Amino acid sequence: MEDIYKADTCRYDSGMQYRRCGRSGVMLPALSLGFWHNFGGVDPFQRSREITHCAFDHGVTHFDLANNYGPPYGSAEETFGRLMKNDFKPYRDELFISTKAGYDMWPGPYGNWGSRKYLMASLDQSLKRMNLDYVDLFYSHRYDPETPLEETLQAMVDIVKRGKALYLGISRWPLEATRFAIDYLAARDTPLLIYQGRLNMLDREPLDQGIIELCDKSGVGFISFSPLAQGLLTDRYLHGIPSDSRMAKGRSLKEAVLTPQLAAQLHQWNEEAAAAGMTLSQKALRWILDTQGVTSVLIGASSTRQLLTNLEAVTTP
Ligand SMILES: NC(=O)c1ccc[n+]([C@@H]2O[C@H](COP(=O)([O-])OP(=O)(O)OC[C@H]3O[C@@H](n4cnc5c(N)ncnc54)[C@H](OP(=O)(O)O)[C@@H]3O)[C@@H](O)[C@H]2O)c1
Repeated sequence: MEDIYKADTCRYDSGMQYRRCGRSGVMLPALSLGFWHNFGGVDPFQRSREITHCAFDHGVTHFDLANNYGPPYGSAEETFGRLMKNDFKPYRDELFISTKAGYDMWPGPYGNWGSRKYLMASLDQSLKRMNLDYVDLFYSHRYDPETPLEETLQAMVDIVKRGKALYLGISRWPLEATRFAIDYLAARDTPLLIYQGRLNMLDREPLDQGIIELCDKSGVGFISFSPLAQGLLTDRYLHGIPSDSRMAKGRSLKEAVLTPQLAAQLHQWNEEAAAAGMTLSQKALRWILDTQGVTSVLIGASSTRQLLTNLEAVTTP
């Protein structure tokens, strides 16, 4: 039997900033929490629970999921579903929950990419796992070069019309397809709310490709995933590779990326951050939040200590 969770009554007084998402009515916290790593069936549930509570207790109202987060696939949504049922039910209307579909999820021809068949079925499965009637935000997780964009986008419009999602987003779509999506969705009264892309001090692709500028001009929000480059932009790898780190697990962050040149750059940024009275992770988060057009940064965390350090980047003036 789990102890009963009661959210901190001061959760909106801890200094969290809320920023308007494009030209919409939605305000997102400057710092949002992602469930890609550390919330799967392989991870200790109590730790996932503590991190999620800590986030909400500090005003983090946006949690980001996807059908395939785990491992195993689907299990991060199940973890969230357990939290939703036992802890967050009284707070549903204070939460902004997103999920996505786009990567391989189940075997056969209908469990991947951007068909109407896949997106509709995937969201129904996600809602069941998450113990939700609707998500606040549904994303196309990636651009599908084979499926007509009209099919993917119309399925998303219909998802909103059926009340299964309130808003729509796209992730990692190229510039021209993004422009098409913005126009298509606006013409059907279900405007694109947000674009999710990887922006951090080591990877400026959405800036260089003009995605952020397009979103900004079009009234679409932008949320940056992997803002700490999966942990590189923290003190995690300044003195080797800790055995409990994401890099040591070797799944999504490979040792080969940590070249001597990168290590030297990280040390330099770390010293600059220290001179300014910050940690490297705080410097990295502030850099993104100071970029014109960015609504929120979407961090991951494997402990409440990491989360609290990162929260200080937005709660300390
Ligand atoms: N749309 C997409 O295609 C896409 C792709 C990737 C991610 N995302 C979203 O973005 C979210 C965040 O991605 P991410 O987890 O890669 O973000 P991240 O914030 O760049 O990396 C998080 C990792 O950095 C380390 N870390 C965080 N704070 C730290 C601190 N203060 N000190 C030391 N280490 C710290 C931890 O690594 P350790 O685990 O080693 O402790 C943590 O797991 C995901 O959960 C997901 O929602 C979306």
